[in-house]
Amino acid sequence: MRGKRVLVTGGAGFLGSWLCEALVEMGAHVTCLDNLSTGSIENIAHLMGKENFSFLKEDVCKSCPEGFDYIVHGASIPSPDDYMRRPVETMLPNSIGLLNCLESARKSDSVLLYMSTSEVYGDADLIPTPEHYWGRVNPIGPRSCYDESKRFGEALCMSYLREYGVDVRIARIFNTYGPRMDLSARYARVIPRFIIQALRNEPITVHGDGRQTRSFCYVSDMVKGLLKLLLSDCKGEVVNLGGEEEISIIELANLIKELTSSSSSIIFLPAREDDPRRRKPDISRAKNLGWRPSVTLRDGLALTIEWFRKKGGFK
Ligand SMILES: NC(=O)c1ccc[n+]([C@@H]2O[C@H](COP(=O)([O-])OP(=O)(O)OC[C@H]3O[C@@H](n4cnc5c(N)ncnc54)[C@H](O)[C@@H]3O)[C@@H](O)[C@H]2O)c1
Repeated sequence: MRGKRVLVTGGAGFLGSWLCEALVEMGAHVTCLDNLSTGSIENIAHLMGKENFSFLKEDVCKSCPEGFDYIVHGASIPSPDDYMRRPVETMLPNSIGLLNCLESARKSDSVLLYMSTSEVYGDADLIPTPEHYWGRVNPIGPRSCYDESKRFGEALCMSYLREYGVDVRIARIFNTYGPRMDLSARYARVIPRFIIQALRNEPITVHGDGRQTRSFCYVSDMVKGLLKLLLSDCKGEVVNLGGEEEISIIELANLIKELTSSSSSIIFLPAREDDPRRRKPDISRAKNLGWRPSVTLRDGLALTIEWFRKKGGFK
């Protein structure tokens, strides 16, 4: 990657900032484009002085610069509490923003990696879910602004491949966690929310009966998977990236309680509409590319809790 020009949209966010960091370390010239709607400068502050890193505060729906060897499109509003609050804003980076990135890729002959999501499968009835599963998504439900815009985004990528030959790759990312996730408990995703609640010894809030499952992946594994997909010979491929350790949300709450030595109680809130009952990827395709996650949930959570303790000033 030495000397290669890479654009990362959403690069000041959780995953984007780790990806920028890895690419900078590999010697690439990285441009991070972000409007800071859910990300923060703090996530990339340590990269700011480097000669092979630059930051562009911009809305990708307004414009996308040209002249890159690689584009990774990750700009998005991915937290359910957040995207349900601003559904229109959520749809745009995966449609207009992605269109701008694909046009840039077409003009400069760039490889484009689209950061899609397991949510394209909706409430899947095939578990573990392979890439050939078409999904079971409510097209007009409260989650549709995210799910359907990602599905549109995937279709747009494949259309640019078929019509213009643009080298696109699609990562279907399953729940990923780790340091730099948003600390604000209100719009936080499940792991940061549980950790903050546990560290404050406040009630841990579980939506529904807690028997719904997820398969979490630690951020360092996910970044390796994204790089593998970006740099492999896999034009036009769609690949699941995620953890294989399926855990129920109630088990997750108890594990976080144990790892934080918290006295929190666990309370139950109404279930979220259209919340998938089970989520676990079939990662055979990623394994064939030579990727598999290596950090266990227990180890990854311990690292994440340590970071949250320091960041939030908890003892
Ligand atoms: N973390 C996960 O578990 C997960 C799971 C599936 C998919 N993904 C996808 O991975 C990508 C990164 O997610 P994340 O977890 O790092 O979220 P994040 O919210 O931390 O990062 C998203 C970044 O995009 C930026 N952004 C949003 N709208 C923008 C716009 N219009 N123009 C420019 N920048 C904009 C935000 O400011 C933020 O920095 C997203 O596309 C998300 O949908 C993440």
